[in-house]
Amino acid sequence: MSPSRINESSLVVTPIKHAADKKCTIGAIITGLDLNDISDEDLATLKEAIHQYQYVMIKDQHNLDPVKHWELVTRLDPEAPQVHGHGTVKEFQKTGGLLSKRAVHGLPAAPNVRLIGKGYQGEDHFGIKDFTAAGASNDYHRYPPSAESFAAGNTQFQRWHIDAPLYDREPPHFTALRAVKCPVGPDIQVNWDDGSGLSMKCKPGQTAFVSNTQLYELLSDEERMLAENSWVEYAPFPYMWIENCKGRPNGLGLETEGKEHKMEEMPEWEPEKIKTYPMVWMRPNGKKALQIHGIAVRKMFLKATPTSEVQVVDDVVKIRELLHSWQQRIIRPEYVLMGPVEEGDVQMWDNWSVFHTAVDYPDHYGPRSMHQANLGASDSPVGPVPIPVS
Ligand SMILES: [Fe+2]
Repeated sequence: MSPSRINESSLVVTPIKHAADKKCTIGAIITGLDLNDISDEDLATLKEAIHQYQYVMIKDQHNLDPVKHWELVTRLDPEAPQVHGHGTVKEFQKTGGLLSKRAVHGLPAAPNVRLIGKGYQGEDHFGIKDFTAAGASNDYHRYPPSAESFAAGNTQFQRWHIDAPLYDREPPHFTALRAVKCPVGPDIQVNWDDGSGLSMKCKPGQTAFVSNTQLYELLSDEERMLAENSWVEYAPFPYMWIENCKGRPNGLGLETEGKEHKMEEMPEWEPEKIKTYPMVWMRPNGKKALQIHGIAVRKMFLKATPTSEVQVVDDVVKIRELLHSWQQRIIRPEYVLMGPVEEGDVQMWDNWSVFHTAVDYPDHYGPRSMHQANLGASDSPVGPVPIPVS
């Protein structure tokens, strides 16, 4: 498809042309936009493009002001609480568990914009002094590549996920991830390391994406019926619950080793803050996404048909088995989009319809500096079938 102007906006949206061997359907490149000075009309166009393409890369935002970065995500959901999707840095460090094991900094000029990345960030990175980031690392995996293999450029997907606290706050609609500094060097290789023999090459420092609307379409009719009528309950402080667990080699889900905290070991939680979401989330374009954050699910409520009895599943082995059998269908090289990110790009995605993951790379490629912003949505995901009120 050729570049097109939509809504008579000044920005240009160009769908990403995927290689002939790809089945990936998502992604667009946006040019002609200055996020420091974005009109309401361009903002509406941007939002529409993200919903349509699920992932966009906005080029040439080298001088983006962190305050404007934060304003961008708040303007996209003005009714939402005006704080990062995971709350303040202080709250996050207290209950972020698995996600907050490494130091997290907000930018002094805009504390809800988080610095994430890897390696030395310089003497003064937007006011953060002498910070060395310990970012996404294969040490999250139960079976990571050996040190020699990793040094030679073999790696794994970190953790396929939605940006979502899944307790108290709602999942952000959009994340805006700005690439300030990218590592450089030859391609690395992501290996599935799960016996499938699958692998794919990519530049170091990229984020990978898959479409969960496409995943929904890969389900059989029977599975779709089950997914549409079923729902999941997430654990209280879910990332704390699984803080001692390790990831599977393909980055999808957790190894089951009985390392989840027992509920009595968890800090006191408020039952009304527990999140119960449908398995299938309706999207503004009428599509349906199988949007289940498997690692954080504590209970499944299964209904094979609209009139079936509810089957409650609270055994994590069974929960993970079912979700993995579905979700692994999209975690294949032909469906994975590796954001072709360059310094100055701002990547944004429809966090309610994709999974994404970081990919670790050897230190010698140099540091990676990313600024990430999102805010918990003002509304909750809605499924094709309402969850019955108990
Ligand atoms: Fe993320």
